[in-house]
Amino acid sequence: MKISVIGCGYLGAVHAACMAELGHNVVGVDIDAEKIARLAAGNPPFFEPGLPELLTSAMSTGRLAFSSDIAAVSGSRVHFLAVGTPQQRGSNAADLTYVDAAVAALLPHLAPGDLVVGKSTVPVGTATRLAVSIAATGARLAWNPEFLREGFAVKDTVSPDRLVYGVETGDAASVALLDEVYAAALAAGTPKVVTDFATAELVKVAANAFLATKISFINAMAEVAEVTGADVTQLADAIGYDTRIGRRFLNAGLGFGGGCLPKDIRAFMARAEELGAGDALNFLVEVDAINQRRRERMVDLTLEVCNGDVRGKRIAVLGLAFKPDSDDVRDSPALDVAARLAELGANVVATDPEAIETSRRIRPQLDYVATAEEAANGAGAVLVLTEWAQFRALDPEAFGLLVAERTILDGRNCLDPAQWRSAGWTYRALGRP
Ligand code: UGA
Repeated sequence: MKISVIGCGYLGAVHAACMAELGHNVVGVDIDAEKIARLAAGNPPFFEPGLPELLTSAMSTGRLAFSSDIAAVSGSRVHFLAVGTPQQRGSNAADLTYVDAAVAALLPHLAPGDLVVGKSTVPVGTATRLAVSIAATGARLAWNPEFLREGFAVKDTVSPDRLVYGVETGDAASVALLDEVYAAALAAGTPKVVTDFATAELVKVAANAFLATKISFINAMAEVAEVTGADVTQLADAIGYDTRIGRRFLNAGLGFGGGCLPKDIRAFMARAEELGAGDALNFLVEVDAINQRRRERMVDLTLEVCNGDVRGKRIAVLGLAFKPDSDDVRDSPALDVAARLAELGANVVATDPEAIETSRRIRPQLDYVATAEEAANGAGAVLVLTEWAQFRALDPEAFGLLVAERTILDGRNCLDPAQWRSAGWTYRALGRP
C-alpha cells in the first residue's frame, strides 16, 4: 500500500521505516529539511537502536523515501499524522500547532477515499474537530494511538502489544484499510480494539497516566522507606510478585522524564479541567509532585554527603538521558539534577554514552567528558543518574582508584550496594538504607 507519514521525529521516522520494512511503499514528510536529509542518508538526527540499519535496508528496497515537500503525499491511500504535541509555554495544555498545521497542509492533497490516521497524542476531542475538514475532501479520519517506547521503538512498532483504531461509528472501510496496513501484526495475533474517537484518544493518555502513577507510587513508598530504614527495592520485588500488581514500572529512583509521560499527564489534567472533570484527575497533581520531589531529594542527598556544601566540589554525574538507550534529554531528571548542583556551585563533570550533545544544547554551562572514568577522575562524589548498562557494569575496585572520595549515590537503584560497600565505598540511594 502507498502510505505517507507526516512528521518524522522519533515516532514518524520509526513508523515510516517499519511500514516500509513490512512491504508498504512509504514517503516520510517533514518541514525540517535537515532532518529529512539526515533520514534520507540513513543517519537519523536522534539515537534509536536499530533505526539506522532499518532505514538503510528499507531505502535499499526502493520502498522508503523522504521529502520536505508535502505534495509528495499525493497518491498515498493512508496518511499517518505523527507530529509532536509538546507542552504549551506557560500552561499544562498540549500545543496543537503542529497537528493543525499538518492537517491544513495535507488537505489540498487528499483524494476521496483516502484515510488520514492520527498517531500523535492529542487532547480528547481533537479528532472530532479535525474530522470535519478532512470529510469535506471526501477523505476519512481514524485515530490510532502509538505506544512505542524510546529505545525499543522499532520492536514496539513492528510487534505492538495491541492496536487501537478510533473510527466514526460504522466506518468499516477505515477499519478494513487499517487491517491491511497492519496485516503482519494482526496475523501474528496482536489484539485489536476498535473504538470511537474519544476512547482512542483517551486510551493513550490513560496508559501514560497509569504508568506515571505506578512510578510515582513506588517513589512515594521510597519516601516512606527513607524515614523508616526500609528498602524500597525489596518492597517492589515483594509486591511485584502479586500478578495483579506486577513488578514492571516499579523501579524507584529519580522518577520519570522524557518527551511523553510528564507532558501527557499535564495535558490530560488541563483537558479534564476544560471539560469540567478536573477533580477526576486531581491525583495526577500529586503524581507530578512526587516525581519532582525525587530530584530535590537527590540534590539534598548530594549536599548531605558533601557536608552541606557542594561549592567547588568536583561531582561526577554518570548519565544525562531521561533513560538508558536514548539520547533524549527532554525533561530529563538526570540533566535537571546535574544543572541544579552546578547552580549550587558544584564543579559538575558529566558524561553519558549518547546524550552529551543533546545536553550541551540545553545546558551549555556544564562540563562534559566522554567517559565515566574521566568524569570520576578526582571526584569527591559520583552520582549515577541514568542506568546505562556500562555504568551498572563498573568495577568498584578499579573505579575507586580514580576518585578523590569513594562516595557513590545511586539515583536509579541500579548498583549492588554490597559490592560497592565491600570495595570501601559509601553507598547511598533513594529509598534504600
Ligand atoms: C512512554 C511509554 O512507556 C510508552 O508506552 C509511550 O508510547 C511513550 O511514553 C509515548 O507516549 O510516546 P518512553 O517515554 O519512551 O515511553 O519511556 P518509558 O520507558 O515509559 O520511561 C519513562 C520514564 O520513566 C523514564 O525517565 C524512566 O527512567 C522512568 N521509569 C520507568 C522509572 O523511573 N521507573 C520505572 O520503573 C520505569
